Amino acid sequence: MAAIVLLHAFPLDSRMWQSQVEALSRAGHEVWAPDLLAPGMADSFEGPPSIDAMARWVLAESDRRGHHDFAVAGVSMGGYVAMGLLREAGHRVSGLALLDTKSGSDSDAAARNREEFAARVTSSGLEWVPEAMLDNLLGETTRETRPAVVRHVTDWILQSDPVMLAWAQRAMAVRPDAGPELDVFRQPSLVVVGTEDVISPPEEAAAMSEALGGAPLSMVSGAGHLANVECPGRVSEMLVSWADRLG
Ligand code: MLT
Repeated sequence: MAAIVLLHAFPLDSRMWQSQVEALSRAGHEVWAPDLLAPGMADSFEGPPSIDAMARWVLAESDRRGHHDFAVAGVSMGGYVAMGLLREAGHRVSGLALLDTKSGSDSDAAARNREEFAARVTSSGLEWVPEAMLDNLLGETTRETRPAVVRHVTDWILQSDPVMLAWAQRAMAVRPDAGPELDVFRQPSLVVVGTEDVISPPEEAAAMSEALGGAPLSMVSGAGHLANVECPGRVSEMLVSWADRLG
């Protein structure tokens, strides 16, 4: 059975995958969910901040773990890294699940916002980050009806590392368009999106599904950008069905 790598979103860590790790493991899959933004990780990534440096680290660690081929699922920033894996070593990727992410690169304005975020988190720390991000990270339904999810995500953000948040923003700002990689990737794929996702909205998901040759597109109603945290059971089922299609 294919090993599965689960790549988390910004500004979070692998705890966001808890439900899916349990479900995929129960289904017999070997799962690895690294913490890409743990303190000190910048020293593990080669060169200046880039998504592809993170992808190269995932490849090296997968080698170390004895997995030449693996399937990968990524949420948002994790999806960017998954697409970086296609750029760096697409022949090693045996399946792809893209959740609440997008394939395009940043506009100049978006890249400038990231630099402002990086400068502010470096000078002022993390206190302001949950308020600045939660309305976009979580769907309206979750913000109104799932207080435990709001609490968990707030705690995870406040426990993140400001140095790595700045590093990741600078990495995301310079990421290339991944359209060409999706156009030629034809292993078992899945695209998942929360219907209330305002960062990577359903239109972005539909475009990726099309680029992937008509990959199944699963909509998660009542969820926003962190659909797998907001509606964990439903997204776990989607990923287990995708994993069953892997060679
Ligand atoms: C994420 O959830 O990983 C981020 O929102 C991605 C981004 O800032 O583009």
